[in-house]
Amino acid sequence: MKSKISFVCQECGYESSQWLGKCPECQAWNSLKEFKISNPKSQISNKFQTSENTKPKKLHEITYTQKERLLTGFAEADMVFGGGIVAGSVTLLAGDPGIGKSTLLLQMGLNISSSLMVHSSSPKKGSAINNEQSTMNKVLYISGEESTEQIKLRAERILGNNKRTQNDSFLLLSVNNTDAAIQTIEEEKPDFVIVDSIQTMESEAGGGMAGSVSQIRYASSNFIRCAKTLNIPIVMVGHVTKEGMVAGPMVLSHMVDTVLFFEGEKSSNTRILRSLKNRFGPVDEVGVFAMEGNGITEVQNPEQLFLTENTKEVAGAVLTVTMEGTRAFMVEIQGLVVYSKLPTPRRVVSGIDGRRVELLLAVLQKHCNVPVHNMDVFVNVAGGLKVTDRAVDLAVCLAIYSSFKNVPMSKTVAISEVGLLGELRKVGGSDKRMKEAKKLGFKKILDASKGSIREVVKGLT
Ligand code: TYD
Ligand code: MG
Repeated sequence: MKSKISFVCQECGYESSQWLGKCPECQAWNSLKEFKISNPKSQISNKFQTSENTKPKKLHEITYTQKERLLTGFAEADMVFGGGIVAGSVTLLAGDPGIGKSTLLLQMGLNISSSLMVHSSSPKKGSAINNEQSTMNKVLYISGEESTEQIKLRAERILGNNKRTQNDSFLLLSVNNTDAAIQTIEEEKPDFVIVDSIQTMESEAGGGMAGSVSQIRYASSNFIRCAKTLNIPIVMVGHVTKEGMVAGPMVLSHMVDTVLFFEGEKSSNTRILRSLKNRFGPVDEVGVFAMEGNGITEVQNPEQLFLTENTKEVAGAVLTVTMEGTRAFMVEIQGLVVYSKLPTPRRVVSGIDGRRVELLLAVLQKHCNVPVHNMDVFVNVAGGLKVTDRAVDLAVCLAIYSSFKNVPMSKTVAISEVGLLGELRKVGGSDKRMKEAKKLGFKKILDASKGSIREVVKGLT
């Protein structure tokens, strides 16, 4: 068999026939590594054997059955998955180290393996516990990061009681050999598999070190094949690089059915599960969790979670309602402006895109006469939520204005996008946002009906 030498970028997976100092794809330096690829192409004939599967079909000839879904025991997670985990699907759960990915999956695994969990044949909201169809699901937790003892200790910490860990359908395997893991899945035929993490899986057939692009590609394609052929749902943990991307080849996110992110600030115990890609459900849906001393719990009233308990009226805080997927969350935007001694005043922003804030500052300077060019500006989204919703624009402007003029507005809810001309724009989901604000007892709501930001601030002073 002939073999070919190829150079593969360890950052992005770019392939080149010669060594290059800088990757032309991702511009990383010194990232190309040499790989030998055995080239069996010459032996494969170009003629493809046509079979039943390669013939195109008419729509009415195609039959399908509603996919079976596994409920995770967390209604919030089931919702993010689109009504539970679809049989035979492969999910990538990404997140920063230490954020709680292993803990969340361990809890899901324990829930699924306990006899109370059920297969739901139709996607529905929430994980109703229905004893009629309950079965013992066999769960296999493959860890390449921790020993089985460590995982057992964590399970005990979560369950709080040694007796409850006597769960015979929950199996642990501490191994980082891809082929051994695949073999175990094929032998055990579990109902649910967790792979923690895909970056630790390696095989002699994969080439390169554990965590290298070719190893990750080898491991993920094998797990995906296993999931599809045996119809077993698999959730794989993926580490995240400094830039917030899933480490490894970009193709990884394309290969899997679902990509979820588990995120949160280390300083707070709030965790958000977000779907970025989902072949079987909605994208941008979020589930809200809290990291407690004995595991992860669901948050009951996530709408109020991001509100600080401000009883006093203070300047520099304005409320808004942001939509994440189909859910509305009330959040407080805090702004602080002070005269700056620096030639280039500071802009310190957290929880919201800094460039968006720059733009809004320019609008404030031009249309509301706030001299932000010589002021330090600080903007913060209280509670550690990251917002990308344009509807918070007006609240950001007003928080800064409120701090500048020293007028308290902390009971005001502002919901509108702000344009470059200072005009207010209506945002999607207005009714839902209004309803949420009113439900939480806020009466003073500013929306796009005022027309422009100038009109809004005119009414304030
Ligand atoms: P872990 O699930 O190991 O994170 P990841 O797999 O994403 O790297 O979680 C690690 C952190 O969670 C660690 O700092 C301890 C904390 N933790 C709790 O606060 N409560 C718990 O019940 C558990 C098991 C962990
Ligand atoms: Mg972990």
